[in-house]
Amino acid sequence: MKKKIKLFDPVIGSKEEYAIKETLHSHFWASGSGTGKVSEFENEFKKYVGAKSCVAVNNGTSALHLALSLLDIKKKVVLVPSLSFVSTAHAVVYNGGIPIFIDIDPHTLCMDPDQVTKHITKNTKAILPVHFAGMSTKINNFKKICKENNCKLIEDAAHAVGTVYQKRKIGSHGMAVCFSFHPVKNLAMPTGGLVALNGSDHKKNKKLLQIKRWCGISDRQGVNYDVKNLGWNMYMNEFSASIGLVQLSKLDILNKKRKKTAKIYSKEINLENKMPYNDDCSYHMYWIRVKNRTKFIKKLKNVGIETGIHYKPIHQMSFYKTKSKLPVTDRIGKEIVTIPIHPNLNNDDVDYIVKSINKFF
Ligand SMILES: Cc1ncc(COP(=O)(O)O)c(C=O)c1O
Repeated sequence: MKKKIKLFDPVIGSKEEYAIKETLHSHFWASGSGTGKVSEFENEFKKYVGAKSCVAVNNGTSALHLALSLLDIKKKVVLVPSLSFVSTAHAVVYNGGIPIFIDIDPHTLCMDPDQVTKHITKNTKAILPVHFAGMSTKINNFKKICKENNCKLIEDAAHAVGTVYQKRKIGSHGMAVCFSFHPVKNLAMPTGGLVALNGSDHKKNKKLLQIKRWCGISDRQGVNYDVKNLGWNMYMNEFSASIGLVQLSKLDILNKKRKKTAKIYSKEINLENKMPYNDDCSYHMYWIRVKNRTKFIKKLKNVGIETGIHYKPIHQMSFYKTKSKLPVTDRIGKEIVTIPIHPNLNNDDVDYIVKSINKFF
């Protein structure tokens, strides 16, 4: 029988089934105030990454939107990579800011600190790097740049749940670190996201974000409340949180499987340009670079292997079209292909993927 290997595939079991049923029958499915399983998930996630505070939301895009709302970025610049999902740039625009696209390091595909230094100006309010495919950005370099230029660091960690940077999990370093729990992510929910907060203002920022994630509702006393500022409807629901709690409990085991596969790919795929192996990476994705991409994707599809392109660079999208000079992003944007690395792959699948890729070259 012909193989059919999906690019992404959440790992689910009886514990997720039980969690869903339990929430269903509890008749408590959601609350804007984030009590119940949502608050339980926030506490467990806080412990897992080592953050000072956590605020769960309905997706990663909302996490970025809310995190940037902690800064006043109206008419100010935020430096972002172009090789990312569009939400990275959209979150800047939602907040009235101007995203300026910065080139990437060809080895990690994360935003290049030297390019950031070249493009930073007095109008730059924040730097928003992405831990691409689960590989950590150089947080300390960005922190130093921020200190020297009086701007803030917000991290897009949508790919990086479980990634480690200098012996500590991503989520414990920056003032606001934004996660996505979209079903394709290492920690999967039907939909979900979270802002991890650190720094001396974490308690104040947590309160602010809790208000903003539920329509600006504050000062609740019994059935009475006030709205002092605009907020959005961005809270996480109980089903997502209950699945998230189960997924979090097995995250390290699942990430270990991803790493094992990444080690094999980095050793055995006969290509020079591919994602390097790093024991601290959570391997949300595994990328390779190929010259004849359309033909390659078709060939793999014909043998039952689904692949993807992550991403078409944001600065090439009609909405963002700019004259930015991003030679590395442009070159890699034409060649990048993502291949399956999810933990549902067995040894035979991994072997089949390696052999099918190597046959092409
Ligand atoms: C780098 C990056 N940032 C942000 C997001 C947005 O997350 P969500 O889809 O949960 O809104 C994603 C999701 O794919 C992403 O990959």
